[in-house]
This record gives sequence, structure tokens and C-alpha cells, in this order.
Amino acid sequence: MSYYVTTPIYYVNGEPHLGHVYTTVAADVLARHMRQRGDDVFFLTGTDEHGEPVAQAAEREGVAPRELADRHAERFKAVAARVNATNDFFIRTSDPEHKAVVAEVVEKLRANGHVYEGTYEGWYCPRCADFKTDAELAEGSRCAIHLIELEREKEDNWFFRFSSFQEPLEKLYAENPDWVLPSNRYNEALAFISGGLQDLSLSRARINWGVPIPWDPDQVVYVWVDALLNYYSALTYAREGDDLRDRFWPASVHVLAKDILKFHAVIWPALLMAAELELPKRLFIHGYLLMDEHKMSKSLGNVLDPFAVMDLYGTDALRFYLLREVSFGQDGSISPESFEKRYTTELANEYGNLASRTLAMIAKYRDGVVPEVEPAAELVADFDGLGGLVSNHLDRVDASLALEEIWQRVRRLNRFVTQAEPWTLAKDDAQAERLDSVLYTLAEGLRVVSVLLYPWMPDSVKRLLAALGREDLGLERATLGADGGGARIGDLDQLFPRVEAPEPSTAA
Ligand code: MSP
Repeated sequence: MSYYVTTPIYYVNGEPHLGHVYTTVAADVLARHMRQRGDDVFFLTGTDEHGEPVAQAAEREGVAPRELADRHAERFKAVAARVNATNDFFIRTSDPEHKAVVAEVVEKLRANGHVYEGTYEGWYCPRCADFKTDAELAEGSRCAIHLIELEREKEDNWFFRFSSFQEPLEKLYAENPDWVLPSNRYNEALAFISGGLQDLSLSRARINWGVPIPWDPDQVVYVWVDALLNYYSALTYAREGDDLRDRFWPASVHVLAKDILKFHAVIWPALLMAAELELPKRLFIHGYLLMDEHKMSKSLGNVLDPFAVMDLYGTDALRFYLLREVSFGQDGSISPESFEKRYTTELANEYGNLASRTLAMIAKYRDGVVPEVEPAAELVADFDGLGGLVSNHLDRVDASLALEEIWQRVRRLNRFVTQAEPWTLAKDDAQAERLDSVLYTLAEGLRVVSVLLYPWMPDSVKRLLAALGREDLGLERATLGADGGGARIGDLDQLFPRVEAPEPSTAA
């Protein structure tokens, strides 16, 4: 099976923040899990560099757009690497190869009769790069999102016959009830379509930072059309001499937040239909990370520095926290306090202690060798089908529910230790068999939850599995009893050591 997952490409008008990291980590969880299953995976992220959002930010800083883009693209690349994202490519829309594909597709739209010349008259928000209807404006002709005052624009543009795709889009939605997940976002997108579609400017005349319209170089391609095409163009040049489109197009899933639902769930499929390209198989729309009830965003100034969090607590802790604290698909608040709490109670106490206790007891009672017996029956039932459950949740991109499923087993293992009391069994020779069984079951249970947890906490899991002497990450290994005993365990430094947070406001 091939699996192609994408994040939005981020605007290079500012520094990356935790909101961007959130989507990248979630997509990485999917990519890593699918690789564990043996799928042929391609994971794409990158930067959106054209249009007013970037051109105006550059102007404010008094630098050329190219300079701003180069600087921030490096930061986005660095943050992806720092969160351990295993993206197979990093696309920049200023890449000449991407621009060539945009020009080609736009030509195709025209050749297929979906483009005409017209005049746009109305509102435009340069920060959203979005055309706004009167109904969408906040008081005083302001953008309801950015609260900046908008100008009424009039310019001659090339138009895309978006309106003629209303019926095909309605059909797409009717036939594919899971095309957009979660279902409230599906309903929202469908309502937008049913409300009626107006033709869309395909080009912009007042700006030259973009991809020129091939037949009218005085205009550039509307930045959202340019940006959306990244998902497709990347496959043409990510591997030199190898066109990956046959292997990976259409994409399996685009992951994004609700701010850009309309572009992905309505405009994007219409563009693809018009260009006679296959549609992605699924969109997953997640919610916002909120700080004090407000969306974390650069313009509001309430952003957390992901680098600072990772320096203090480690990358795995951040990856875990983001998908644990906020149910993926919904909005949710994050805070330094809840970060510390999760870190201490779940990572350090529940998982970290389980690991260190298990290893310590095998070292102490069995000379560091995992006993060779059958797993304890009471645990076998609780672990039955776990790998399949986790896979099913991730097929539906539910990265929080999948994690919860695994975490219940971490807790189950902790209860098992408490109930079985291996330290008491160790005092009685007549209980040697039972102790073997308890220790083997713990080692196996810990191995199984760890194999499954790998996508969320790759470094910690690898260290733990190395200490257990079992490093195979294949998903088919995630069954209690799949590995026999006999492994010699190694040393393990604390997975999640105690952290002294300097200042809560900068800690997480
Ligand atoms: N460049 C466009 C996307 C083009 S995709 C073809 C864009 N860029 S952006 O830099 O504004 O990134 C928006 C995306 O960043 C959101 O859809 C989401 O994936 C992520 N997030 C940014 N802030 C976020 C939160 N506070 N919470 C959750 N996700 C956040 O839009």
C-alpha cells in the first residue's frame, strides 16, 4: 500500500510556532505508523512563500520577499527536524520546479475552458489572501479574522469558473461521507458549497511576487492556487530523475486546521476536477491550540516557543503532550501547567516508572534475562487486537484516540504490577513460576505498548526497546507473546527525568 500524507505549507511571513509544530507532529505520527505497517510512505511538508502575506511582511521589514522567505524557510525546516519529523521532502513554493507545474496546470485549466477574463470588485484580505463577501466582514469593513481594515478592490483578473463545480462537488460529498473528517467539518464544507459558489479570481494584478500567468505575465497566479498545487507538484521533483506521481498521487490524506478548510475542501477539489487530476482520498481538519481561550497566533502574540519547550522537556514529551492534551479534531487549551502535569503523571510516573521497574525487577530477580514462558492470561485478553484498534483509529486520523487506546494498556500494566506484587512473589520459591510469568508479561506488555507508542515518542521508545533487547518496530510485533523470552536486558537512563522549570511562562 502506498500512503501519502501532507501538512499545510506554512507562510514564511513569521517564525514557526507551536501551532505549526502541532500539525507537523500529527502528520509525522501517521507517517511513522504507516511505515511500521510496511506501507510505502511519502510525507510532505514545506513553506508557502508567495502572495501578499509574504510580500507585505517583507515590505514591513524593509527586505525583499526572497530574503524573508529564505530566512524563514530555514527556520521551518529546522523546526521540522527538531521535532523529529520524518518528512520525505520539504517543498518551497519558490522552487522553480514547483512554479513550472503551477504554470502547466493553470494552462490546462484554460485549455479545458475553465478560465475567462473578468473584473473583480469586492473585498480582499491580504493576510488571509482571501476574497471576502460582505457577510464575512466584521464591523467597519474589517477582516473578521485579522481585524484589519480592508480596501475595496477593483481589478481585471483571470477568473476560474468555480461556480460550474457546484454540482460535481455536491456529488463528491454525497458519495464520500468520510471525505472530510471529522463530520462537523464535512457539514461545514458542504454547507458552503450548497450556499452557492461564485467564480474565483485565478490571478492577482497588483503584486508580482508569485508565479506569472503564462499567457499574461503582468499577473501572478492567485497564491492559494499556487499553494494548493504544492501537494501535487512536489511529487514531480522530490526525487531527482524519479516522477513519484504514479506511486503517490492521489494523496491519502491532507492534514490541516479549520482555518483553511474552505480552500482545501471546496476550492482544491474543484481545481483538481477542472485539471482532470485525481482527488485526495481524505482531508482531516483539526482544531486550534488555544492559550487562555485564544487561538495561538503570531498576530495575537500568545505563542509558545517550541524550541524552548523541547530544550527543557525533550522532543518526545512535546509530541506526546500535543496529541494527548487536545483531542485531535477539536479545539483545546494548552498551558505550561497542564504540560508539567502530563509530563510528571503520565510520562515520568506511568510510562517511565513502568519501564524502569520492569527492567530493575528482571535484573534483580532473573539476572537480567527475560524468562521464557507464556504471557499471563489476564493480560492477554486486555491486549487482544490492540494493534488493529490503533491502526483503525489512525486510518481515520484520530491520533488522540489511538494514543488513549495504548495508554489504557500502560495503565493496565501498572495495575498488573500492583496486583501481582512481584516483590512478594520473589520471597517465596514456590512462586517462581508465577514470578516468571509476571516478569515475562511485563516485559512483553511494555514492548507492545512501546512499539505502538513509537510514532508519538520515537526516541524514548527506541531507547527502551534497545534496553529490552527487542528492537523490531514492525506493527505485526505488537501482540502480547509475539516475542519469546530469553532476551538479555540492558541499562536504561530515566526516560523522563525530573525537570526543574525555570519560569512557568517560558517553560511550556
Ligand atoms: N500557507 C497557508 C496554507 C497553504 S496549504 C496549501 C497557511 N499557512 S499558515 O502558516 O497560516 O499555517 C496554517 C496552518 O498552521 C493551520 O492550518 C494549522 O495546520 C497550523 N496552525 C497554525 N496555528 C495553529 C494553532 N493555533 N492551532 C492549530 N493549528 C495551527 O494557512
